[in-house]
Amino acid sequence: MDFTGRDVITIKELSKKDINSILTAAEKLVPYARGDKYTDLLKGKIMASLFFEPSTRTRLSFDAAMNRLSGRIIGFSDPGGTSLKKGETLADTIRMADAYSDIIVIRHPLEGSARLAAEFADSPIINAGDGAGQHPTQCLLDLFTIKTEKKKLEGNNVVLLGDLKYGRTVHSLAYALSLYGCQLTFVSPKELKMPKEVIEECRSFGIEPTNTTNLEKAIKDADVLYTTRIQKERFPDPEEYQKVVGSYTVDKALLKNAKKDMIIMHPLPRVTEIHPEVDYTPQAIYFKQAFNGVPVRMALLSMALGGKL
Ligand code: NCD
Repeated sequence: MDFTGRDVITIKELSKKDINSILTAAEKLVPYARGDKYTDLLKGKIMASLFFEPSTRTRLSFDAAMNRLSGRIIGFSDPGGTSLKKGETLADTIRMADAYSDIIVIRHPLEGSARLAAEFADSPIINAGDGAGQHPTQCLLDLFTIKTEKKKLEGNNVVLLGDLKYGRTVHSLAYALSLYGCQLTFVSPKELKMPKEVIEECRSFGIEPTNTTNLEKAIKDADVLYTTRIQKERFPDPEEYQKVVGSYTVDKALLKNAKKDMIIMHPLPRVTEIHPEVDYTPQAIYFKQAFNGVPVRMALLSMALGGKL
């Protein structure tokens, strides 16, 4: 399959075949991601990393991925130091990054920003999160994690918990899990329910998600519990945030209701939604999940830049 030059704006643009190829490539790249093996697959290539919003894992794992492939990185993590301060448009900033690099990774607070960037760049654009919209590379690493931990993607029983309204990771993941025929349960405070459009997308694959506020009951038969942070920065009204903050916490007492081999995922950062006592249980795989960002992003960068894997 030739993936050279492709933009990755939403997970919906990737077919099952595309996703499977990326996951297979990522599996092969794990020893390179760990630094146990060396490759210069992307020597001479430059990745522009444009982060208009805070990030730890996404930005660092993209940087690590490009470094592990012997490519180079330019960019910024604080737009305050760029010409945006002088009033430059996003389109012009993108034109410049396009001129200076071979591939552009962008995170921006506005939904649709990555799509706009793709209109102004010839190089591939990778969406590293556009507001409350989509987060396709997180979705790929989430799929990779489920596939490696549960030995298959198809047919898992997955609970998505937390801020399903503003959380971009769960918007991408609900779609992708439906594509693989997973059973879905959405657990959230009633103010933060999964948007109707996302539920419609699940239905288009014949999946009818269950919506509930009852976490204890929802996790009883779950294979995967995917927890998310309440997206404080996306609330138009701080009082609305105060109403829902701390609505749920995953702790050891709650896990008594779950299957022994249920895995607990979280895109991170967590605030209060997973108690630190859970970190030492075998079910907690969120730090491993964060590492998986490296081989998955290595696979994507190599494939979009035409590197022979
Ligand atoms: C997520 C994001 O930025 O959408 N984090 C990440 O990319 N690992 C989730 C979040 O910020 O809560």
